[in-house]
Amino acid sequence: MPVSCPPALAPFLDLLRCPTCRAPGLHPARGALRCAAGHSFDIARHGHVGLLTGARATSGDDAPMVRARARFLATGAYEPLRQAAARLATARPAERTTVLDAGCGTGYYLAGVLDRLPGARRLGLDSSARALHAAARAHDRAAAASWDVFRPFPLTDGAADVVLDVFAPRNPAEFHRVLRPHGRLIVVRPTPRHLAELRGRLPGTLAVDPDKERRLRRALAPFFEATATERVEYGLSLDAAAALDLVAMTPSARHLEPAGIAGRVTVSALATAYRRRPVMPASPRTGSTRTSPPGRAPTPPPVR
Ligand SMILES: C[S@@+](CC[C@H](N)C(=O)[O-])C[C@H]1O[C@@H](n2cnc3c(N)ncnc32)[C@H](O)[C@@H]1O
Ligand SMILES: [Zn+2]
Repeated sequence: MPVSCPPALAPFLDLLRCPTCRAPGLHPARGALRCAAGHSFDIARHGHVGLLTGARATSGDDAPMVRARARFLATGAYEPLRQAAARLATARPAERTTVLDAGCGTGYYLAGVLDRLPGARRLGLDSSARALHAAARAHDRAAAASWDVFRPFPLTDGAADVVLDVFAPRNPAEFHRVLRPHGRLIVVRPTPRHLAELRGRLPGTLAVDPDKERRLRRALAPFFEATATERVEYGLSLDAAAALDLVAMTPSARHLEPAGIAGRVTVSALATAYRRRPVMPASPRTGSTRTSPPGRAPTPPPVR
């Protein structure tokens, strides 16, 4: 029995681009989405469309990580982070805001944004099929598709008003391409203080790269300009189950030593809204476009 196109996916059909031939627009066809040239992408029983075909993503959460993330987020422990992301994402609401969530996981943050924007539609991209099962059901206006954030996105230019990236890999050049001229990028990432106490109890786990901020700034600078940053920092009392889930939702789970990990931890993250830099006109000699300011280094590779 073919799966029908989920209603939340329908508003995106014109904004999607065939991952194989890059033709704009996909249409529903018997349990799949299809491009004009006939390339076909299955809609999973759980409601997400499998746009990532043929090759595996370089990374993505496995089923135990997704289960741990879903349980942990359901405790409400990261609600202040969700509120901060939603505040920044909805600062300039349009009548029909299109939100793209890169590395959406279970869709927890997008559900928060959609609750604040009654007319918004949202697409979550993630390489983990398990995460997408949850993301496709996170909200009745939430659609989900499998994709590798490090590849050119299966979306037309200027498709989104907001790109959200919460604790997930980033692809600045593609974020820039798929945002409308006045679109905003929202990035939430941990500071070195994030979960420091838990790291102390479990040495060798939950590392935060001390150079992360500098790398992020360098990678985004050719494409985006920061307009507002919120620091979200608070203490959290974790019982053993929540502490286990918090570790198990990361690749650190392999090193897990459950004894003695309950207790107080600090949650510490930065949430920044960025304005898209304008694209400079095509160079007459090369015909290529570049982003301002002129004279910057060529497009840097995607970053985590
Ligand atoms: C730390 S989780 C964050 C998930 C979600 N944004 C949240 O905060 O709950 C990182 C997410 O990025 C996804 N991911 C990792 N590598 C990816 C890639 N190359 N392309 C797309 N998603 C990826 C993982 O599957 C996971 O869902
Ligand atoms: Zn095609």
